[in-house]
Amino acid sequence: MKNLRSANWYGNVDRDAYIHRAWMRRGLPEDALNATKPQIAIANTASDLTPCNMHLTEVAESVKQGIWAAGGVPYNLPVVSLGETQVKPTAMLWRNMAAMAMEEMFRANPIDGLVLLGGCDKTIPALLMAAASVNLPAVVVPGGPMLTGHFRGEALGCGTDVWRLSEEVRAGTITNGQFLESEQATIRSKGHCNTMGTASTMAVVAEALGMTIPGFAGTPAPDSRLLVMAHETGRLIVDMVAHDRRPSDIMTRSSFLNSIVAVAAVGGSTNAVVHLLAIAGRLGVDLTLDDFDATGKGVPVLANLKPAGEYLTDDLYRAGGLLALLAEVKDLFDPTPITVTGKPLVDYLDDRPVWDANVILPRDKPLMEDAGIAVLRGNIAPLGAIIKPAAASPELLQHVGPALVFDSVEDMDARIDDPDLEVTADTVLVLRGCGPRGYPGMAEVGNMPLPQKLLEQGVRDMVRISDGRMSGTAYGTVILHSAPEAAAGGPLALVRTGDMITLDVENRILSMDVSDEELSRRSPSPASEAAYAAPTRGWARLYVDHVMQANTGADLDFLVGGSGDVVTRESH
Ligand code: FES
Repeated sequence: MKNLRSANWYGNVDRDAYIHRAWMRRGLPEDALNATKPQIAIANTASDLTPCNMHLTEVAESVKQGIWAAGGVPYNLPVVSLGETQVKPTAMLWRNMAAMAMEEMFRANPIDGLVLLGGCDKTIPALLMAAASVNLPAVVVPGGPMLTGHFRGEALGCGTDVWRLSEEVRAGTITNGQFLESEQATIRSKGHCNTMGTASTMAVVAEALGMTIPGFAGTPAPDSRLLVMAHETGRLIVDMVAHDRRPSDIMTRSSFLNSIVAVAAVGGSTNAVVHLLAIAGRLGVDLTLDDFDATGKGVPVLANLKPAGEYLTDDLYRAGGLLALLAEVKDLFDPTPITVTGKPLVDYLDDRPVWDANVILPRDKPLMEDAGIAVLRGNIAPLGAIIKPAAASPELLQHVGPALVFDSVEDMDARIDDPDLEVTADTVLVLRGCGPRGYPGMAEVGNMPLPQKLLEQGVRDMVRISDGRMSGTAYGTVILHSAPEAAAGGPLALVRTGDMITLDVENRILSMDVSDEELSRRSPSPASEAAYAAPTRGWARLYVDHVMQANTGADLDFLVGGSGDVVTRESH
């Protein structure tokens, strides 16, 4: 092994190298710092306040053993972690901060390669954004989903069933006490959410991009095979350093397009859009919103998993796992991009039997024939908005109805259950002030609750539009990521209650029946202006000053691209 980056710290016989080595000794073997052994950081998002990632320090031990076994030297590197259910106002506000902090620590330290331990929604995206910008050899260890919990004999899908049951309480079909009883059963084990929500989707993305050992994503967190794969990943990163196999060699435009196919085939989260765009931006890969529509179009949803289907991730693993599912759509993948192993993903898609065709559906009996993500445009969202047809009600995909506008989440909360609210099942609910700048952080509030009086009438879905995001575990005819957002001067700020809205998913149209002349006379409502009061200090201030719109991934403008791994100045 030669030309290790860490030799810039340890490779000399002078005072500086003495200092770098001496402080690191502390029990390391004599030859650990002799500038020939790859120094591998295990970027660890374990945190007691990120419940889905709590177990990752145990996983890191297996990675460490693999690194030692292959001749490297492992280091646990705790990095910023984000617990989706815990941090306010939304974990998405901190994704870029986590990515920026990770990138800087990867670059600043004597590291030759990276093992990226993630799980909960924002952690794998932040790790991949950081690894892309520093472009050191890197490989992802997805922390894995939890086992299935049951309540009164029924399987509970994290997130999805919380939304469903809470709506049933509002509809009066179950009591709040019954709802709260299910709380003890929802989280059965370590691991992230067990639906095809954002965490599961981002593990699929990491694998389809080529950034995990193929066959790793979706391995349940408590399964001993997760530790086997973690050990193998530790061995692999040492080999990757030897071959100088970097993220920019793996995450090419072709592998991004493969990821879009994979996300469509599993019926994955809409959040994959902003995360993939942001990761691509770090690598200088030309990926646009329209690539999601064009590449995902015609891809069948074969994963019969909640929120779109019936089963959970444990069932997917039992049925043959992600590779068995991807093998069904092998012909849709570009065979050229390599994975972390140096071999293309398609090389791993032969002889992958499906053991339960109710979970991994056959190509000719998909859950939905044409999934993917539809990109809508028109005079509401000139830069684009998205909808996931697989999670929508088919009868609402073509719809015309009057708008009912809420200027903020608080405005919606105050009025949505008002018995006097003028609303019918045909109304289009519009929520603004939830975009990257407006919230700030682009909250997951786009799947806004339905008005109680309609729930009581049996209505279970309506067309909803916002500049926010939606939890990957949610469902409904929900149009998201409207760009530009209202707080950035987008025309969403000009929609008024009563305007007729047209949704035409087949023709990719989202528009309001208001003339350009009339729109030019309108100005944003004072209520919405007040809702967008910008933060005055700290990260949130930096964020609102520099965040880009959803159609380009909502990264900060000065974080696009990368700075590589070179640091020229000494620390002392
Ligand atoms: Fe962590 Fe769902 S809350 S993955």
